[in-house]
Amino acid sequence: MSHAPQPVISATGLFTPAERISNEELVASFNAYVALHNSENAAAIAAGEMAELSESSVEFIEKASGIGSRHVVDKAGILDPRHMAPRIAERANDEISIMAEIGVFAAKNALARAGRDARDVDAVLCAASNMQRPYPAMAVEIQDALGIDGFGFDMNVACSSATFGIQTAADYIRAGHAKSVLVVNPEICSGHLNWRDRDSHFIFGDVATAILVEDRDIAPAGHWDILGTKLKTQFSNNIRNNFGFLNRGHGGIDQDGPKSDKLFVQEGRKVFKEVVPWVANLIVEQMDLLGLKGEDMRRLWLHQANTNMNRLIAQRVLGHEASEDESPTVLDTYGNTSSAGSIIAFHLNHEDMAAGDTGLICSFGAGYSAGTVFVRKT
Ligand code: COA
Repeated sequence: MSHAPQPVISATGLFTPAERISNEELVASFNAYVALHNSENAAAIAAGEMAELSESSVEFIEKASGIGSRHVVDKAGILDPRHMAPRIAERANDEISIMAEIGVFAAKNALARAGRDARDVDAVLCAASNMQRPYPAMAVEIQDALGIDGFGFDMNVACSSATFGIQTAADYIRAGHAKSVLVVNPEICSGHLNWRDRDSHFIFGDVATAILVEDRDIAPAGHWDILGTKLKTQFSNNIRNNFGFLNRGHGGIDQDGPKSDKLFVQEGRKVFKEVVPWVANLIVEQMDLLGLKGEDMRRLWLHQANTNMNRLIAQRVLGHEASEDESPTVLDTYGNTSSAGSIIAFHLNHEDMAAGDTGLICSFGAGYSAGTVFVRKT
């Protein structure tokens, strides 16, 4: 008997770059840059033509964000006070590109956990906050590397890319256009972070995650039912990156000074104040629609940007201060990894959940954008 397709999450995957930068190492290199800048520009600073730069501090970073360290694809380039950006060698067209490569690692991890052969996957969505080139799509390169017969395309919704990808994959399954969809989130955030900007130099890290969304008919035992998803966007300039194909040559990483708008820039205070209530309301509205109360929520896997934001959102959703068990954070080791953050939190913190347990994967970020994915362990 045929019945309507039902999208579920079969498995997730994770790739973590080997290199890691502690806050201490990061601040030492930043402060070396500040000392160089201030001494080389001493005359201009004394004449009032240039601002003196201030040092960063480990205490500030930990208190303001909860971030303890981050993994990166190139530590040496980032920590070099005369360079302060990853050195990522350009590859020939017949070599796999780095974003596809790390995406494939994460995708293979998800496929192995689901016991799925790549030949049985129908589509690949590469959903991330930055694409390394406009075309051919990263997703098509990942599809090719995995040997998938089907289709792929790229999606960019900044930090919310993964949840937007999950809903898109779920919709393909509901519509009968696919039975098995890989959503891949390669995030080389170190390439768009301004490592010379004191206000934000500590925020991001690199990683790749993958989510296998499938029709329940073919999903492995122990999969996660998707109870409901909701996406929302509302225009804001408070998190912005103006790099693009119409301004190439204006602000490559090496030439940029602090606050280049061709890299990540934000009004962190405004983001904090505006996004916390906006996301908390979205979650609570969705819980009402799904008939869920705070006490029904076993665990929240929230976007990993800032522990204080997550503490406030979780408190509003659960009705009490969340424990690490109820709202796990990966900021201490991964920092903010844009779209991958809530997926890492899920990937590393779900094995102990029992059949019938309900949880929420939630992302939020630039756009503004936010996505909720309510799941239940089977
Ligand atoms: N080291 C030491 N001091 C620093 C510093 C650093 N690296 N960066 C800023 N400061 C100082 C500021 O100069 C300021 O000093 P003042 O009070 O004397 O003027 C003080 O610390 C507070 O700065 P502010 O920028 O207001 O910090 P904050 O408490 O708002 O925290 C963020 C900054 C970015 C961590 C915080 O706003 C935030 O997390 N916002 C959410 C946005 C987000 O995470 N976005 C990511 C994309 S989703």
